[in-house]
Formats: sequence, structure tokens, C-alpha cells
Amino acid sequence: MKYKNEFGDDFRWGVSTAAYQIEGAHDIDGKGPSIWDAFVNRKGKITGGHHGKDACKFYHNYANDIKLLKHLNIENFRFSFSWSRIIPQGTGQVNTKGLDFYDRLLDECLENNINPWATLYHWDLPQALEDKGGWTNRDIEQWFMQYADICSSKFGDRIKHWMVLNEPMVFTGAGYFLGMHAPGRIGLKNFLSSAHHAALCQAQGARVIRANVPVAQIGSTFSCSFLQPMTTSRKDELATRRFDALLNRLFIEPSLGLGYPVSDLKFLRRIYDYHKPGDEALLPFDFDFIGIQNYTREIVSHSYFIPYLQAKLIKANKRNVSATVMNWEVYPEALYQMLTKYGNYSGIKKIIVTENGAAFPDTLIDGSIYDEARTNYLKNHIAEVLRAKQDGIAVDGYFVWTLLDNFEWAEGYFPRFGLVYVNFNTQERIIKQSGKWFREFLGNQ
Ligand code: FCB
Repeated sequence: MKYKNEFGDDFRWGVSTAAYQIEGAHDIDGKGPSIWDAFVNRKGKITGGHHGKDACKFYHNYANDIKLLKHLNIENFRFSFSWSRIIPQGTGQVNTKGLDFYDRLLDECLENNINPWATLYHWDLPQALEDKGGWTNRDIEQWFMQYADICSSKFGDRIKHWMVLNEPMVFTGAGYFLGMHAPGRIGLKNFLSSAHHAALCQAQGARVIRANVPVAQIGSTFSCSFLQPMTTSRKDELATRRFDALLNRLFIEPSLGLGYPVSDLKFLRRIYDYHKPGDEALLPFDFDFIGIQNYTREIVSHSYFIPYLQAKLIKANKRNVSATVMNWEVYPEALYQMLTKYGNYSGIKKIIVTENGAAFPDTLIDGSIYDEARTNYLKNHIAEVLRAKQDGIAVDGYFVWTLLDNFEWAEGYFPRFGLVYVNFNTQERIIKQSGKWFREFLGNQ
């Protein structure tokens, strides 16, 4: 895998970002607080007590950062709208200055021949909606549809590619079940209600975009991990199947009309407590593409002590394998396996790898960053994408996570995922070796 043309002319290369992780400007020009603005103020929730109040100051630096994209030969830019910048209270009054920011951003992209790919929701729910129950409140269906309507009617003329949600499994699992992400809620009821409402919004939001922008390519993104059992025992195999239902199938299958994967994960039956008559028909949507976001492989073992799942993941450091700063095993074949898995669903038309990348301890030496480990990670994963494509899987794009080092949620600024290094004191950007390699790869036909 040397040349990008091995992937064909239509293959989309890009980078992905998310509003809260880069924008900063958390309270200016009328923006309302989001659940992340509130969560970062809670003691002990974020490593180092970090927060995203300033982050990469992308709100102010966007024009230079878009020029940087152009310099890197990156033609597709995935970003997310901040809901509370656009509708400060989550519902009702729209903030024109918030819309203006995205207007400027989109114009800047188009002037530089960069295609914008927009995600409606990348985890930063308006706090005012969380105060009313957030994702656990069925009213979110209406709130979300209003938000989707405003974004798609306003920006549909300039955005061809839309993604409804970013990784619903992660924001409901980490945010409403484990309490590790905003809004920091725990428990099965919070999880199942928010999961059902997210699955509904995934389809309902897409319908709103379809109505406003008939020519749009509409997708949604899904986190996934390649799972393998610890041993060949029946118990570990079943444990792996349960984790697979939860981590890899919970949100995609209802969108394909297959319902929730209840037969492989019994406790999911209780998600039907939150169903209303007619929901079955609302959950499916005929997406033009799906985004898959894969970083690693996980090894699963049976465990009596873990409630609901009776299964646990054996983390990379316990297995003595090479891993990133996130303690995620480096295992490129995982991406091939996931592309094959989703490619085999008959309802999935097209797959875009909307996130893949790695955090390694970058050191600045004489003003440069020689991040060979990241460069290799990218090369090896991109090679697995090509393998899947050559096997006939309908994979049509690859987006690196991410352009800039940024606020990595509960881990603060410690993990650096960027192709571009950010000095958070001065906001200086330095292209890493991996960024230079990507630029050359993209520039080289
Ligand atoms: C994904 C998120 C993204 C980023 C990467 C490392 O789960 O979508 O915002 O945090 O992981």
C-alpha cells in the first residue's frame, strides 16, 4: 500500500474532529452551557482537572486550521455542531451568532476546496436539556428533531455529508450507565432509556435531514471493537457474544430493521419498557452510509462478578501487548475484521471509516515530533482498509482521528491523537511526522 490511487478515485480521505474537543469559546457569543461544560467542573471526573473551556480555540483559529488542512492535502473535514451554541437552551430560541460561526467555517472550507462532513451530535448535550432528564426523557425526540431541522435547513446548501450521532454506545454507556462521561449518570434505567431514545433520534434526525436536503448523503457513526474470547471455553465464547451485542450491534441493528439484539443479551429485554406503540416502525432508517470507528481489539472473558454482562474485557496492559496511551492494543487487523463484519449486513450500503488513529507519548525535539509509532499505526490500519476493499467490502473512505491534539474527554489533554501537535499555552501548531507522511501519501497519486 503505497499510493492512494490503489483505493480508487472516489475514495474519501479526511480527518475527524468534535466541537467540544477543539472549539473552546465555551461561553461567548451567546453559547449556552453543555453537559461537558458542567461535567468538567465536577471534582475528580477529568484527569488533571482539565477542561475544554479553551481547548484548541478553534472557534477563533478555524481559518488557519482550515488552511492547515489544505496544506496537508486533506480534502474532507468532519466536524460537529455544538447544539448549545446554536440553541443555547437546547430548545426554543436560536442563537444567530452561533449559526454565524458555522457559516464562516463552512465558507472557509469551501473556499479552500474542502468538503465539510457534519455530525449533529458529538456528545455535548445542552445542559438545560439534561436538567429536564436529557437522553432519558422521551421529549428528546422532539428537541433533537428541532435541532436537526435548524442545522439541515440552514446548512443543507453547503453540506453534502451528514452524520446524525457520534457513537451512541459510548455516550449512553459512559455517560448514563458508568458515569465516566457527561452527564455522569449511572444505572440500568438511565442507560436503557437513553439508549432507546438515542436509537430513535438516530433515525428521526436522519428523516429530518432527508426532508430538508433530499440530495444529502446521510449516515450515522458507530463505535466498534474486534472482540475475541480469552480462551476457547464455551463460557468465554458466550461472554464475547454478549459483549458483541452490546458494543457492536445495539445501535446498528435497530436502524437496519433487525430490532435490538435481545436474544444474545437478555437484560436488553428491558429496553422495551421504554417503547411506545409505533416505535418499531420509527427505528429503521435507510442510511446512505454508516461510519465505523475502530481503534483496537478487545479480549473478553467470562466473569460472575460483573452485573448484567457476566463478562469483562482484559485490558492491553494485562496482556503484555503493544498499546497506545489509552491502553488500547495496537492490532491493525481489528479494522479489517470490523469492515468485514459490517460489510456483511445486507442493509449496509456503504461504509466510511469515520475515525481511526492513536495517542502516543509525543516528544518535542528541536521543534519537531518524530511520531513513528503513529505513522506506523496509520499505515498499517490503512493497509487493512485496502485489504477489505480488495475483498469486495464497500468501504469508501478513511478519516483519521484527528487533526489537532485536543481535549480527550475524561482523559483531558494527556492523550495526544493529532496529526498536528498543539502547544496549549501558546496555541502553536506543529505538524508531526505522521502529518507530513499523510500529506505526502495524499499528494502522491
Ligand atoms: C472516539 C470519539 C472521539 C475521540 C476518540 C479517541 O470514541 O468519538 O471523540 O475521543 O474516540
